[in-house]
Amino acid sequence: MSKLAGKIALVTGGGSGLGKADCLRLAEAGAIVYVTDVNEAAAQDVAAQIGEGAVALRHDVASEAEWQAVYERIAADHGRLDILVNNAGIVIVADPEQTTIEQFDKTMDIMCKGVFIGCKLGLPLLAKSENGSIINMCSNASHFGFPPFFAYSAAKGAVRSMSKSIAIHCQDQGYKVRCNTIHPSAIETPMVQGAMGRPGEEQEIPQGVLPAGSIGAPDDVASLIVFLCSDDARFLTGGEYLIDNGSSIRP
Ligand SMILES: NC(=O)c1ccc[n+]([C@@H]2O[C@H](COP(=O)([O-])OP(=O)(O)OC[C@H]3O[C@@H](n4cnc5c(N)ncnc54)[C@H](O)[C@@H]3O)[C@@H](O)[C@H]2O)c1
Repeated sequence: MSKLAGKIALVTGGGSGLGKADCLRLAEAGAIVYVTDVNEAAAQDVAAQIGEGAVALRHDVASEAEWQAVYERIAADHGRLDILVNNAGIVIVADPEQTTIEQFDKTMDIMCKGVFIGCKLGLPLLAKSENGSIINMCSNASHFGFPPFFAYSAAKGAVRSMSKSIAIHCQDQGYKVRCNTIHPSAIETPMVQGAMGRPGEEQEIPQGVLPAGSIGAPDDVASLIVFLCSDDARFLTGGEYLIDNGSSIRP
């Protein structure tokens, strides 16, 4: 039996990079996947790659109205949600002095407020699940100072702590919903290609255990997401999971 058979999943920013890998792997594990993205064409491509059961929706996570529309569709189709992956994100490379107020607000709207709205409006549907799982994408950038990713790491830091409150809130309300965060180091996606100044130039990731300093592959993250969304992870909530090949424990 597939690990996630019959589960209903929503992945934001599912049209590219990590979100795309998550959608493909969740579907492979048996979930019905709602692929949402502000880039509707990209979401449609991923849903088409998955085939039967996948649904693509335009969805700007900074918009409360668009979140409502997505949840109304899932409620009408299934009446519940089992998996919410708050993955959509942007990065603006600017240090604390260079960052404009507009850049800071935009980053917070998408990566912090978007996660808040998604959890707040999604909880009534998730609470109908027998083993609901919220995964909020954070970053190793929320663990240390990194001036060029100033607004980005601030947003991820907020999501990191917000997720712990959501985990406890769900337990206190008697919801069977867990909430965890994932904190990757650099993973080969269009976001990282852009931030590293090589947009569109994909780097091949070798198979097997990687040496220190390597960049990871989207599937390295998706594998953990599939596990955290499965019934095997029932005792895991409020946790934060580094996916960084050990880079953060080096002096
Ligand atoms: N790639 C990495 O190394 C890395 C490391 C740590 C954390 N992350 C996090 O993982 C997540 C995915 O990153 P990625 O590397 O796959 O990036 P990516 O740029 O490849 O994909 C991001 C997706 O989010 C979508 N998006 C952007 N703004 C949106 C909005 N307002 N509403 C809905 N969708 C929107 C984009 O259209 C795109 O499809 C992000 O939250 C990112 O911060 C990535």
